[in-house]
Amino acid sequence: MSAGNIIFEQIRSSGCLSYLLCCPEKKKCVVIDPELDKADEYIELAKFFSSELLYAIDTHTHADHNSACKVLREKHGIKVIMHEATDAPYIDVAVKDGDVISFGSQSIKVIYTPGHTQDAMCLLCRDRIFTGDTLLIGGCGRTDLPGGSAEQQYESLRKLRALGDEIRVYPGHDYREAVSTLGDEKQKNTRLLFPSKEEFVQFMTSRKPPLPRKIEGALEWNRTPIQGTQRGMGEGI
Ligand SMILES: [Fe+2]
Repeated sequence: MSAGNIIFEQIRSSGCLSYLLCCPEKKKCVVIDPELDKADEYIELAKFFSSELLYAIDTHTHADHNSACKVLREKHGIKVIMHEATDAPYIDVAVKDGDVISFGSQSIKVIYTPGHTQDAMCLLCRDRIFTGDTLLIGGCGRTDLPGGSAEQQYESLRKLRALGDEIRVYPGHDYREAVSTLGDEKQKNTRLLFPSKEEFVQFMTSRKPPLPRKIEGALEWNRTPIQGTQRGMGEGI
C-alpha cells in the first residue's frame, strides 16, 4: 500500500463516525461516510490542512442518517464514490471489489462486503480498515433492512477475518469503542465466532431490533438526487 505520512481525523456526529484522510504531501483528502450535519466541518478541516477534498465516499446506503455526499457534490463539486451495486442516483465514481481509490500519494483498496446492505463495502488504507456497518466493534451490521442478507454478511465477515490481525478497525458507529483491531475482533466479537454459516444466519434472522428512528427520511434522502444531478457511472478514479 501507500507510503509516507497520512493525516487522519475521526469525526463524530451522535453515534455516527466519519473519517477524513489526507495526503499531506500532495494535499489531497477524502471523507468516508460524511454526515449531513457535519458537511461544513469536512470542508473546514480540508482547508485547515491546506488540502483539496477530492472524494466523498459512502461505505453503503445508510438507513439511519442523512449522508452529506450529495450536498458536498452539489455545493463544492466533490466527487461521490459508492459501490456499483448502489441505487443512489448522485454517484460520480462507481467502484467494485479490488478497485483502488487514489488521493495524492495515498490509496484505498475497495473490499466488497454485501450483507448489511447490497452495496456495502469496506475500505482498506494502509494499516486501517473502514468497515461502515459491515463489522462493528463487538458486533456487525443488521441484515434485516432493505438489501440485507445474513448469508452474504457471513461471507463478508469471513473475508475480513482473512485480513491481518494488526489492522485497525474503524466502524461507521461506535456502539462500544471507536477503534479496535481485526485481531481483537477475531478473538472477542461473537459475530465472528459462530461455528457455522447456518448458526450465524439463524441468529441474524431471529433478531428483530427496532427500526432506526429516521429510516424513512434517511432512505429517501440517501436515494434521491438533488435537482439536476445525475448518476455518472464508470468514470475513472
Ligand atoms: Fe448502515
